[in-house]
Amino acid sequence: MRNINRQIVLKQRPQGMPQASDFEMIEQPIPEPGEGEVVTKLMWLSIDPYMRGRISAAKSYARGVEPGEVMVGGGVGQVARSRHPNYRPGDLVESFSMGWQDYAKLPAMGLRKLDPAAHPPELALGLLGMPGLTAYFALLDIGQPKPGETVLVSAASGAVGQVVGQIAKIKGCRAVALAGSDDKLAWCRELGFDAAINYKTAGDLSAAIAAECPQVDIYFDNVGGAVHDAAMSRIGVGARIIICGVIDTYNRMEQPDIGPRHLRRMLVNRATMKGFLITDHIARFPQALAELESWRRAGKLKYRQDVTDGLENAPAALARVLSGGNFGKQLIRVAE
Ligand SMILES: NC(=O)c1ccc[n+]([C@@H]2O[C@H](COP(=O)([O-])OP(=O)(O)OC[C@H]3O[C@@H](n4cnc5c(N)ncnc54)[C@H](OP(=O)(O)O)[C@@H]3O)[C@@H](O)[C@H]2O)c1
Repeated sequence: MRNINRQIVLKQRPQGMPQASDFEMIEQPIPEPGEGEVVTKLMWLSIDPYMRGRISAAKSYARGVEPGEVMVGGGVGQVARSRHPNYRPGDLVESFSMGWQDYAKLPAMGLRKLDPAAHPPELALGLLGMPGLTAYFALLDIGQPKPGETVLVSAASGAVGQVVGQIAKIKGCRAVALAGSDDKLAWCRELGFDAAINYKTAGDLSAAIAAECPQVDIYFDNVGGAVHDAAMSRIGVGARIIICGVIDTYNRMEQPDIGPRHLRRMLVNRATMKGFLITDHIARFPQALAELESWRRAGKLKYRQDVTDGLENAPAALARVLSGGNFGKQLIRVAE
């Protein structure tokens, strides 16, 4: 093995949409594990919308990446070197902290060991990982879906959204998708969504939502912005609004997010709106993963992935996710 660790570091904070020139690939020696640590070789890198927040100067729930630092990211890798008794070279593991680099030095404590016979390993970054868990906890804990209710989902063909719709169907709800292309709508219908709306071509989006939703009982918001405003105009009595993501604002986080206000509508409908963060739920991951896996094995959960090859393409893949170019969970295949 050549002693080279390719790393993608942040060169400068992007203005608006991230560009390849905001990042730089450098080469460093492969690190050595300390006591209780392993060094992993990256196979699959997850590209997620939250990454845009980490390279913004705006304050958030987690520490940002400073210029010169390796870009953050979750991944699936193979243990290359180990100084922990539970991990041997060749073991497959998933971690939130692999970063945009070929080799990561990680404490063994934060790793999830994967069984290569159980499922394709990259599912640990999607359906059976952070996005699937987000759909599961946010919909079931905050949404409390009941049979016959209508669940409206934005970014419905994406890593989180496609799981939300399918769990809503498992729970006996009517699921309605909002997505940005007709291909994406077709995929949502194939997943079992009862209706799908192209928010870019619908014209009066509030009217289009009204045509498909008797009332919105649960709005699973992945995007914020104008789509959020249209969904809020159709909430019913007792509606639950799940604020999972506001991707519409990610390229302008430094600016105030002021749009229409919905306070009277929330009051009249006695609605609830709650923000969600997946890291608050880590203690319950094993139980949720078992249920997601049992639904997958029973054929109740399908999952679409969008795979790009090559670590060097990670910056472009991030821009794709932020502009709707991805179709399904965005992954980078770094090594076989
Ligand atoms: N709170 C948490 O713990 C947590 C955890 C995971 C993810 N999230 C959030 O959940 C959301 C979805 O994440 P994901 O990983 O599943 O991403 P994703 O849906 O796979 O990809 C993002 C999608 O968002 C849509 N989009 C982009 N810009 C938009 C805009 N301005 N208005 C409307 N839609 C836009 C695009 O789909 P269209 O073509 O359909 O527009 C794009 O494909 C993100 O906001 C993310 O930050 C939150």
